[in-house]
Amino acid sequence: MTVYLNGQFMPIEEARVPVLDRGFIFGDGVYEVIPVYSRRAFRLAEHLQRLQHSLDGIRLPNPHSEPEWTRLINALIAGNDGEDQYLYLHITRGVARRDHAFPNPPVAPTVFMMSSPLTTPPTALLHSGVSAVSAPDNRWLRCDIKAIALLPNVLLRQMAVDAGAAETILIRDNDFMTEGAASNIFVVKSGTLLAPPKDNLMLPGITYDVVLELAAANNIPYQVRRVAKEEVFDADELLLTSSTKEVLAITTLDGKPVGDGKPGAMFTRMYTLYQDYKRDVMRKKQD
Ligand code: PDD
Repeated sequence: MTVYLNGQFMPIEEARVPVLDRGFIFGDGVYEVIPVYSRRAFRLAEHLQRLQHSLDGIRLPNPHSEPEWTRLINALIAGNDGEDQYLYLHITRGVARRDHAFPNPPVAPTVFMMSSPLTTPPTALLHSGVSAVSAPDNRWLRCDIKAIALLPNVLLRQMAVDAGAAETILIRDNDFMTEGAASNIFVVKSGTLLAPPKDNLMLPGITYDVVLELAAANNIPYQVRRVAKEEVFDADELLLTSSTKEVLAITTLDGKPVGDGKPGAMFTRMYTLYQDYKRDVMRKKQD
């Protein structure tokens, strides 16, 4: 496995970061996860835009231009096995004496990238759907930043695992749904897809965007608006999306069936559209 660290490609065993790296000490950094289909990075421009948004959010200058990122990312893909991969990009504020304030003068950021095999959910899970639990969203107010400081998400996701479930659906202020601990969530009611707005309280998912674009292009009714907690518990269907999980049906919530407890018509439609989109747009031969 070849990884990239601060200007060099190397085997992962050789990649070393000093203990005073602010990512290690403070979680002071941001990241991206990018799926690769047929050796092509999925929606690379959109992922790099979101990375820029995250870097702006933590006031860290972008260490690379878009063409540089593209070149490095393509080299990383070429240096690893597998037609389908997922890339992890990680940028921290660099190595400095421990002080909460930014290093002054600034130090070079740490840039790390790795590739892993992309294993999308197995067929059995697509047919059964997954279970979820709900929990209060106790994260900060900048969930739009893809920050490496993920302790709240880690604890929230572990609640699901402890309950034998796949994901935790987060409810803000005992009032409305934001997203999952590591995914975006859609509610389906009476044939309409309900999506929370991309504000500071959720990560603007790249898969979320694809789902809404596919809905618009295929005359599937959808609304982007706050989704009340009651609507989540009264949903006909719940869908989960992320780069690595793609589109999954949530068929149980807090131990109770969602709708009739089986993946519904909206899931089947959206899953098919997503796979068609991958096949037609991503896997098409390039000239
Ligand atoms: N997580 N919301 C949160 C909190 C996430 O961590 C993720 C993805 C998403 C979905 O975003 P996208 O569709 O762009 O993957 C929403 C990634 C996969 C991770 O942390 O591994």
